[in-house]
Amino acid sequence: MTHAFDEEYWEQHWQQGRMGDAPPNPYLARELGDLPPGTALDAGCGAGAEAIWLAEHGWQVTAADISAEALVRAAGRAATSGAAERVQWVQADLAIWEPSAPFDLVTTSYAHPAMPQLEFYDRLAGWVAPGGTLLVVGHLHTSGHGHGHDSGHGHDSDDHPPAEATATAAAVTARLDGTQWDLVTADEQQRTVPGRELPLHDVVVRAVRRR
Ligand SMILES: C[S@@+](CC[C@H](N)C(=O)[O-])C[C@H]1O[C@@H](n2cnc3c(N)ncnc32)[C@H](O)[C@@H]1O
Repeated sequence: MTHAFDEEYWEQHWQQGRMGDAPPNPYLARELGDLPPGTALDAGCGAGAEAIWLAEHGWQVTAADISAEALVRAAGRAATSGAAERVQWVQADLAIWEPSAPFDLVTTSYAHPAMPQLEFYDRLAGWVAPGGTLLVVGHLHTSGHGHGHDSGHGHDSDDHPPAEATATAAAVTARLDGTQWDLVTADEQQRTVPGRELPLHDVVVRAVRRR
């Protein structure tokens, strides 16, 4: 199936309600659990699990998504979490949106916009404050992508992430200038999700912008 990952696609996706209220992915706790909280952007926050996790861990979160429907759902979840006051929900197309100030943390989990994936990560990297952290969690580019892989993140069996919505750790880290960034994590791994037959293939990159 060919389509653009544009606002109409994502709005429909969330209105159809195919994605359940998944728990936050495990990389947040693994990669960010020891960081002192500050300001954070969750880019493409979807139903808000990661944004809420960050807020519960003391971060002041800007959670942005192109889909108004996703944000309604996310805000509803946050309301019962006790962390709602630390999350600002922003409906924005992050391909064109610009923040008013850089963040101590910019993270994204499985967001894939209509623009090229690696250029999207370039934009996110540009919003990290000196000393701040970039955490990218995405669909790993494998030979299986586009051929029956069920990601569980917005793609049913007929609509899995196409190659252009995926990346490798090497491709993501190659975009980070070694004179400006200290690379902490560059992982490619599989994980199983309860109730889901096929494993997820993930890419996880964490880097700190030098001061
Ligand atoms: C596969 S979902 C992932 C949601 C959530 N981060 C998670 O891990 O479950 C991708 C999200 O990215 C959002 N998105 C896609 N393109 C976007 C854009 N240009 N600007 C902002 N959000 C976007 C979608 O609306 C969707 O909620």
